[in-house]
Amino acid sequence: MTRLRVAVLISGRGSNLGALLAACADDTYPAEIVTVISDRAEAPGLVIAQSAGIPSTVIPHRVREEFAAQANTVLGNQRAQLVCLAGFMRVLDAAFVGGWRDRMVNIHPSLLPAFPGLHPQRQALAAGVRFTGCTVHFVRPEVDAGPIIAQAVVPIRPDDDEASLSARILDAEHRLYPLTLRLIAEGRVREVRGKVQIDGWRAPKLAMLNPREPASKSRVSRWSLDPISL
Ligand code: GRF
Repeated sequence: MTRLRVAVLISGRGSNLGALLAACADDTYPAEIVTVISDRAEAPGLVIAQSAGIPSTVIPHRVREEFAAQANTVLGNQRAQLVCLAGFMRVLDAAFVGGWRDRMVNIHPSLLPAFPGLHPQRQALAAGVRFTGCTVHFVRPEVDAGPIIAQAVVPIRPDDDEASLSARILDAEHRLYPLTLRLIAEGRVREVRGKVQIDGWRAPKLAMLNPREPASKSRVSRWSLDPISL
């Protein structure tokens, strides 16, 4: 099996990088991570890359064009076929983004197009929505924009604060990103006129309600509650 050669760009913690590496550790998974690039030398994610034996490069993002040129050199040397942004906190050079069009994806902790930009979990709590989640999308020059590939829905609980909600979304991210990368690596994902088509796509059958009905009623209710599994 030829595996899709993936580069991961990070700026910090690297827990999504860790989730992707864990998926790639399975020989039957159709992608492999060939290189990690960080714009910050102190990013804890670099340690995750190192312990997995993945070559990593630090490229400071002082000048956008310089970062783009150096990143392209690394990506070329490693023969990367796809770039995954995983907590990469810089706005990338538009020409770089154009060069990787439909070959670069990002994960964002909201149901885009809701709550782009910084602190999306805080934005969701402030808006009072009952569901939020995470999105994997193709990257376009505009921040957190681009054709949506996959999303996971996360309920908001009445006692949530930013930390508890972020943790619950992150858990969903760690499942959604490997799933999405698998779909891409299997060649099932393509962009058609600004939207994404996925071969073999099945949507969950039922809706989720939040707030839930009382347990005693839900059994007899015609409204089903579906804990959607990823
Ligand atoms: C994640 O919430 C991701 O969605 C966002 O930045 C965070 C990165 O976390 N883009 P980590 O570095 O993968 O732990």
